[in-house]
Amino acid sequence: FHVTWDAESAEKEGYQHFMIKEINEQPKGVSETLMRRLDKEDNIVLDGIKLTKEDLEHINKIYIVACGTAYHAGLVGRYAIEKLARIPVEVDVASEFRYRDPFVDENTLFIAVSQSGETLDTLAALREAKRKGARILSIVNVVGSSVARESHDVFYTWAGPEIAVASTKAYTTQLIAMYLIALHMAKTADSISNEEYKKVIQELKTLPEKVKGILGDIDKIQHLGDAQFSNESVFFMGRGLDVNVAHEGSLKLKEISYINSFAIAAGELKHGTIALIEKGTLVMALATQDHLYDKMLSNIQEVRARGAYVVAVAKEGNKEVEKTADVVLYIPNTMDELTPVLSIIPLQLFAYFIAVARGCDVDKPKNLAKSVTVE
Ligand code: G6P
Repeated sequence: FHVTWDAESAEKEGYQHFMIKEINEQPKGVSETLMRRLDKEDNIVLDGIKLTKEDLEHINKIYIVACGTAYHAGLVGRYAIEKLARIPVEVDVASEFRYRDPFVDENTLFIAVSQSGETLDTLAALREAKRKGARILSIVNVVGSSVARESHDVFYTWAGPEIAVASTKAYTTQLIAMYLIALHMAKTADSISNEEYKKVIQELKTLPEKVKGILGDIDKIQHLGDAQFSNESVFFMGRGLDVNVAHEGSLKLKEISYINSFAIAAGELKHGTIALIEKGTLVMALATQDHLYDKMLSNIQEVRARGAYVVAVAKEGNKEVEKTADVVLYIPNTMDELTPVLSIIPLQLFAYFIAVARGCDVDKPKNLAKSVTVE
């Protein structure tokens, strides 16, 4: 009788990979990142970050700068800040920002997003913005990391250690950070009514349970992964906030399964990508935004008419999409603004199951590193 034990399998707590463990830790990460910032009256307490009304009056521009998955969280952040706080936001990948001489001065708020806090391009962009006088706020997971140390203010995500190279729980907690920062700014600047503020907070609080709900019912996604693993290319499309989630879903898939995948704004289909659609092409279509739902249904029809096999992600109750898509993955109902926290979950699982079916090294994909500290 021989018992083998090693530290790594102990750390995986019974899961086959760190990635699936971390996917399952999202209800906790989302809840911690949120609840630790709310006091008894649901006021947002931002770890000593002081963005006063006067500060906000001086800020005429916000840059959100990051790489990879953190950049995709920034894209959602732009939407949240512009919608709630009504301040113009630009989102940039750090390797571009640092070389394009951007308009930055003391009236600029620079938000760096980084799980590790050690990504060289993000750090270099931060230093450049700081040199030009910007106020630096960072959203970081690793306490005491370089990005955190060099920022004026830090908002820590409470994802816990993330080991798998493909980022999952860091992303959803970064989204929560973005919503809280946007709400805090909106409240401070009086650009949101009390009623609306309470509504968003109440809805945010329901998200951990809703994420849990998706994670508790994964058979359909697993079957889909098993059935679709031999695809050589996959397209993701969406409109509005869904495009940003499409980008992240596509990144997950290519990172760990090596399938050629990319994401587009569905309205851009006719300007090129539709030429690539043929019989059997797999298209992942996000259709969670109420005001864009009908438009997405037409885009789904467009690709179906050319033979695509369409997997849609939609909100529970929006059954119309079943008539056009081949498979529908439902997410629990929530405000349109908050859907990314839910709609990314089936896409993470989809990428995971496909990579497992292809026999890939899920936690350590070839050529990739968890933290890129070189240029
Ligand atoms: C690497 C990782 C990605 C991550 C990106 C940014 O490419 O493989 O998962 O999103 O770096 O990392 P950061 O630590 O700055 O969020």
